Amino acid sequence: MNATELFRKIFKLEPAYLASAPGRLEILGNHTDYNEGLVLSAAVSQKTDFAMSPVKGRICRIVSNMDESIIEIDLDRVEEGIKKGCWSTYIKGVICEIRKRGADISAFDAAVTSTVPLSAGMSSSAALEVSALFAFQKAFGLKFTKTELAKIGQGAENNFVGVQSGLLDQFSSIYGKKNSLILCDFRTNEVVKTVPVPEGYVIAVVNSMVRHTLVDSDYNVRRKSCENAVARLKETYPEIKALRDVTTQMLEKAKDTLDFIDYKRALHIVGEDERVLSAVKSLDKSDIKSFGKILFESHESSRRNFENSCPELDYLIELSMSLPGCVGARLSGGGFGGISIHFVEKTKVAEYSNRISTAYKLRTGIETVPILCELGDGAKCR
Ligand code: GLA
Repeated sequence: MNATELFRKIFKLEPAYLASAPGRLEILGNHTDYNEGLVLSAAVSQKTDFAMSPVKGRICRIVSNMDESIIEIDLDRVEEGIKKGCWSTYIKGVICEIRKRGADISAFDAAVTSTVPLSAGMSSSAALEVSALFAFQKAFGLKFTKTELAKIGQGAENNFVGVQSGLLDQFSSIYGKKNSLILCDFRTNEVVKTVPVPEGYVIAVVNSMVRHTLVDSDYNVRRKSCENAVARLKETYPEIKALRDVTTQMLEKAKDTLDFIDYKRALHIVGEDERVLSAVKSLDKSDIKSFGKILFESHESSRRNFENSCPELDYLIELSMSLPGCVGARLSGGGFGGISIHFVEKTKVAEYSNRISTAYKLRTGIETVPILCELGDGAKCR
């Protein structure tokens, strides 16, 4: 059932607005977003739909296709009863963030459906926030820029869900371009250019199905390490503002001034920024081999330096190197479990998917079904 049908079923009316926001893939540029760096990302065709109509009163009712139970939000008590782990927290967080910026919404009924896999590293939560935001913007005449909408979604994560995440997820869900990768600059918060997906290749998402506990706190600890590194590096290079301003060479020169762990974290980030630029150059020249090699290098740096991989993800990448058809693969997103992305020749992807699932199951006992991703456009509302 799509969101419009669910809306009709529950509220016995046609929805006035239908917003859609896609999930996203981080192609390259791991944890660079909150370091003012570069990311090559994409919006996928899997999306969240938010069908809604404004109503009188102060009570919002939202139904999702997960269980068809109705969640109520009282607009006079939005901050009450915000619970981590409940999907309504994302909507409540978004409403609070809109208010912080001096705007507001009125009551509404809404139906939410989603094809973005949950907890899979494809940003189902950003898709939910952005779909709600696009509906609110249109229905209630809000005047936020697209980037501000992304920041509102990020604020919901940072201040209500408790992850100090960057802007990548919401930004990619908003600015994605069909069949393309987008090169995002998180210093200026803009899409620098779009890069077509290389002809003849498909992106297969292989979920390790492992989600380590404390993912959120691990994420926040990594972020802190990056900040520590910047604080120390400023003693040698007073002009720098973020790891974005540091090159590998500069980092090596100042290595002894840094805590060793912070140094390793910074080495990953600085390397990722450099890898993103080289990857775009390779893609511009249709040099898919070099591009793939950079993806493998990124994974290796996650494993050794940022330590946000895990044995299961490492095994998937090891498999990708030994199976025919894959040019490059790496973990994608926050890490500590979650997904890996694999660039695979179209003609070989069916067999590749079978073989990687079989081998993974044999070694780990875990079932995983690769998702072949099509890349879609960013969020919209009608
Ligand atoms: C998560 C966060 C993003 C980004 C990635 C890592 O997806 O939400 O902001 O930091 O991890 O690149």
